[in-house]
Amino acid sequence: MARAHNFCAGPAALPEPVLARAQAELLDWRGLGCSVMEVSHRSAEFMAVIEAAEASLRRLLSISDDYAVLFLQGGASQQFSAVPLNLASATDTADYVVSGQWSKKALSEGGRLLQAKAVASSEAASFSYVPAQTTWQLSDNARYCHYCPNETIGGLAFPWIPSVPVPLVADMSSVLLAGPLDVNQFDVIYAGAQKNIGPAGLTLVIVRRSLLSQLRADCPASLSWQLAAENQSMANTPPTFAIYLAGLVFEWLEGLGGLSAIETLNQRKATKLYALIDSSDFYSNPIEPSDRSIMNIPFTLADPALDNRFLAEAEQQNLLNLKGHRSVGGMRASIYNAVPESSVDALCAFMTTFEQRYG
Ligand SMILES: Cc1ncc(COP(=O)(O)O)c(C=O)c1O
Repeated sequence: MARAHNFCAGPAALPEPVLARAQAELLDWRGLGCSVMEVSHRSAEFMAVIEAAEASLRRLLSISDDYAVLFLQGGASQQFSAVPLNLASATDTADYVVSGQWSKKALSEGGRLLQAKAVASSEAASFSYVPAQTTWQLSDNARYCHYCPNETIGGLAFPWIPSVPVPLVADMSSVLLAGPLDVNQFDVIYAGAQKNIGPAGLTLVIVRRSLLSQLRADCPASLSWQLAAENQSMANTPPTFAIYLAGLVFEWLEGLGGLSAIETLNQRKATKLYALIDSSDFYSNPIEPSDRSIMNIPFTLADPALDNRFLAEAEQQNLLNLKGHRSVGGMRASIYNAVPESSVDALCAFMTTFEQRYG
């Protein structure tokens, strides 16, 4: 059966060569007579997997030894709590920039654990633009500043990296590995794996080592970055299969030529889709053009009564998971690294024909 054109926001498409390799290795991994899922995380074979995955990720992002790379469980949502617990006490203040649903959730979770302050928000404009840094009302005494460079639901992306006098924390769940990144401009980066990294169940944290001792005394052991760093992400059982698969994804990216190469491809895919949307009166995207995501592209039809027909006919063409997030409606095409350009071409062709028939 032909593989679908999968535009899911997450868990999202994975590279076909990675899946094929995992399939080929599944029953008898490295001649051990069992799968990678069935060996101890402390075995020499699995230790080699996690070390290779970390080395590959460090090469892709040029991550220096000033940073610990952690392979954790719990999803990006768990990091909404882990960030305050690892960086500040309950009476401390932390600044949050609210540019969409995910950064708003991070603020709300942060508010349970410290004094979380929204220093800027574009909610009044339905999160259609990135608040300029000149408008941010930064606190004098914040322990960190949190933001979400790519809002998966709204399709909003920061075209610049904030410059703040406190540790900068970024939820990069839907944009890490989409292109080159200067990690040195950040203090903490976290990302759920299920978009550009691997299967759900794995969460990456890249944290400046100098911050590892700031955790509060009652930070649960399972959320402590320090403990994870001291134990090579093995303070408890890590998500072994997801780490193995992420390692294969990193290897695949290196084979393609690294993050500059994938960024060129990502830009080309996004440009095609935005060009189609912008040239039509039938489709529209609400985001300020300079702040548009190249990973998640929401769009609406001029007549919302056609939404279900659009989705049903798309599905008949094997174009799947185009329904927008339940909180915003409309459509959304997530075009992560593993979504081939041919899938974007197929989507554009379908959208053009649909407009001709119903526009
Ligand atoms: C930007 C962003 N942050 C956080 C989350 C929550 O991730 P998880 O479901 O892994 O907790 C998501 C999920 O899609 C996301 O896109």
